[in-house]
Amino acid sequence: MWRKVVMAVSVLAMGIFSAPGWGQDALEEPGHAATADLTQQEVVALMQDPEGLQQARTLGLLVFTTPFNTLDGHGDGDYIFGEPPNEFGFGARPTAQGNGQFLRVGGLDAQSCNECHVFVSHRTLPPTLGIAGVGGAATSAFPGPSLFDVADSADDRVFYMPGHVPDLPLDPDGEADYNGRLINPPFLFGGGGVELLGKEMTQFLQGLLELARNSPAGVEIPLATPHGVSFGSVTSLGGGDVELDLEGIGLLEEGLSEEEQLVVRPFGRKGENFSMRDFDRGAMMFHFGIQPVEVFDFDQDDDGVDDEITVAEMTALHTFDVTNPRPVMEPLGFEASLGFAKFTLIGCAYCHRPELWTSTRNLPLAHPEVPEDPTANVYAEIDLVEVGFTPNLFGGVRVPLFADLKRHDMGDDLAESCEGCPISNREFTTARLWGIADTNPYLHDGRATTLYEAISMHGGEAEGAKNAFLALSETNRLRVIKFLRKLRTPENPNEDILP
Ligand code: HEC
Ligand code: HEC
Repeated sequence: MWRKVVMAVSVLAMGIFSAPGWGQDALEEPGHAATADLTQQEVVALMQDPEGLQQARTLGLLVFTTPFNTLDGHGDGDYIFGEPPNEFGFGARPTAQGNGQFLRVGGLDAQSCNECHVFVSHRTLPPTLGIAGVGGAATSAFPGPSLFDVADSADDRVFYMPGHVPDLPLDPDGEADYNGRLINPPFLFGGGGVELLGKEMTQFLQGLLELARNSPAGVEIPLATPHGVSFGSVTSLGGGDVELDLEGIGLLEEGLSEEEQLVVRPFGRKGENFSMRDFDRGAMMFHFGIQPVEVFDFDQDDDGVDDEITVAEMTALHTFDVTNPRPVMEPLGFEASLGFAKFTLIGCAYCHRPELWTSTRNLPLAHPEVPEDPTANVYAEIDLVEVGFTPNLFGGVRVPLFADLKRHDMGDDLAESCEGCPISNREFTTARLWGIADTNPYLHDGRATTLYEAISMHGGEAEGAKNAFLALSETNRLRVIKFLRKLRTPENPNEDILP
């Protein structure tokens, strides 16, 4: 049945893309020809039964692995000095030596999602390759820079203006000053459970906010979710006004409403995105210069291609994201069990919560998405038990993620040096440790090649737990590592949905 869908779609697609006006030999076609003509209705209809859901996942896998080319609208239009990149999106970015296609720093760094999300296990030899895994250091992304002082000059100047001729004196201090971010790609496994937790928490926090708005002045309500994670408190000022005292949530942007601040954002290493689709929209524009129709319904990057990626394709991609199988914990055995006990005892589990439970098992997917209201515009729900999560006793699922979906101050040494980012440079969302045995390098920029290094580099709020770890006997430190090495990525992820 699924093959029929794809055949029908590709026949249609060939008709359209070989039409005059593409300006290239009809022998070549856009990378996403197989999915370009899908409609939202078709994808949503597929998602109504288990067999159809598998087909929708496959369509998403195709989007995820598509090598986008210029016929799809890969890349930006002509570089125009002083034009975007700006707050409206990407476009008109400079490319290396004006090659017209790639720079890597500031995006335009790949043709397919899977170029970076490719290692299922870095622990096996040879490494296990697959779809939606982590990336190595060579695939780390460099968002947002205007200065990259690879010559190690004395001047830490970060206001490097376009057109500026580098004239900085050399003063080697070993630090190549950089005012963007350097981030290593995480995997997408188990994303559905994480997204459902985030959406449930958001909904609950919005309820508490509403309660505070309706309470008399002076009433303080803790922003504690039934999932066991707290985000500070909200105090009523009377007359519907409130004051927030936030912890590990919210953005530094000016002018956001309290509703907008109380959105749990589990995705991205800083915790910037409330859903995987929210992340994907930015990924398409940043990495490829592919503009989703749901962001811009005109040729925003001015490369001559309209409608670069459709709502239906983003829906299929989101479906693929959230149905990725979850990581697994191998049987612990004696030593690793003692390691797990130590992990909890010394405070690692304060942030790396071994398991959070959802209160429902159905993940709502919406378009258009409303960050502060996950129940708005829902077009389908995905039963997470069907995609490998274990039910809990209360009608929800268990999500063994080893994290709390909250941001924490990790100290000066791990801090980034981004200018004007919406989240403090010292804060990161707690890394989810499920699958950690297979995913080196570690930490947001991949600076740690071993688990021991990753732990020793914790600072800020995690300083105490780090010191407690370092103060353990060598035997006990090894037990903690042994325990972490039982946290594995899923075996043969997504092989069941290969076309
Ligand atoms: C050049 C490498 C690269 C490419 C190509 C790439 N990614 Fe990523 N991906 C990353 C990095 C780096 C991060 C971490 C980003 C951050 O922390 O903000 C990431 C994070 C993510 C996340 C969030 C995961 C989480 O658990 O927080 C999702 C979802 C994602 N990518 C999807 C995609 C999709 C879909 C595509 C294709 C449209 C894509 N990525 C292409 C490097 C890449
Ligand atoms: C205050 C919260 C907090 C505590 C306590 C904490 N961590 Fe972390 N941990 C984090 C955050 C946030 C990150 C991500 C930091 C980054 O990416 O730079 C992280 C990252 C990690 C990583 C690397 C994950 C990856 O995918 O790159 C490991 C391993 C780890 N922690 C283990 C531990 C252990 C073991 C302990 C106890 C000794 C511990 N952590 C205590 C917040 C915490």
